[in-house]
Amino acid sequence: MPLQFQHFGSRTIAYHDSAPGDGTRRKCVWLHAFPLSAAMWEPQLQHVPEGWRFIAPDLRGFGGSSESDPNDGQSIDDFASDVVALLAELGITQAVLCGLSMGGYATFAILRHFPHLAEALVLADTRAGADSPEGRANRRGMIALVDREGPPGVARDMMPKLLGKTTRETNPQVEPVVRHLINRQSPSAIRGGILRMMQRPDSHPLLATTTVPTLVIVGEEDELTPPAESKRIAEAIPGSTLVVIPKAGHLSSLECPDEFNQAVASFLGRI
Ligand code: MLT
Repeated sequence: MPLQFQHFGSRTIAYHDSAPGDGTRRKCVWLHAFPLSAAMWEPQLQHVPEGWRFIAPDLRGFGGSSESDPNDGQSIDDFASDVVALLAELGITQAVLCGLSMGGYATFAILRHFPHLAEALVLADTRAGADSPEGRANRRGMIALVDREGPPGVARDMMPKLLGKTTRETNPQVEPVVRHLINRQSPSAIRGGILRMMQRPDSHPLLATTTVPTLVIVGEEDELTPPAESKRIAEAIPGSTLVVIPKAGHLSSLECPDEFNQAVASFLGRI
């Protein structure tokens, strides 16, 4: 599916849109993981359920979206305001928000500032808490790594954590796809993503006040945001549903797309 572009002053937001200009379908917005781009949603964009329109933006700096001036400060709210600006430009006032990992952090930022926008939520392989001091120290190490070795160094470091054990052992075609996606990102996008993630606030207080239908998905073998994190999110959001995908790791939507798509399609069919 080709990329589309919207320009806001000197900034550009790139996105995939399964049904450009179609106001009759219900909308689902897909927010990608770090350090990837909206291209990671290809298995979802290829299987859009009847009556739905899927929109997948590249978060700021990633894919075809431009980065802002680093001197402006980098906040997770940048991702939220870009998504909201894009949807406003497309005439969309409500959508299902589906975020995986960093995309989940962006979803929480949207909920915090623009709660009316969410018709329902899919929170995949993500966590509600802010970074711990140890997590922030690791992030600083990752910034040093990207400055030293560029995206290939980050890909090498993260790969064992991004993909589950079963995928690494039995599905060798997934790793080069993920490596390619990471290598296509710019060092400034990766740096910006890290800074935004490490400064994000705790989103636990949002969970109990979330009233929209919510599906929480996690790969059984996710080491970065383990199933216990998703269980806590699902327990805290009233009426939410938890789906654990067997044999999937952190990138559950890419590793086990059939199971992931089935969980999402069944949720979208119920709401
Ligand atoms: C992601 O997959 O988006 C990141 O690994 C999340 C994180 O590093 O906190």
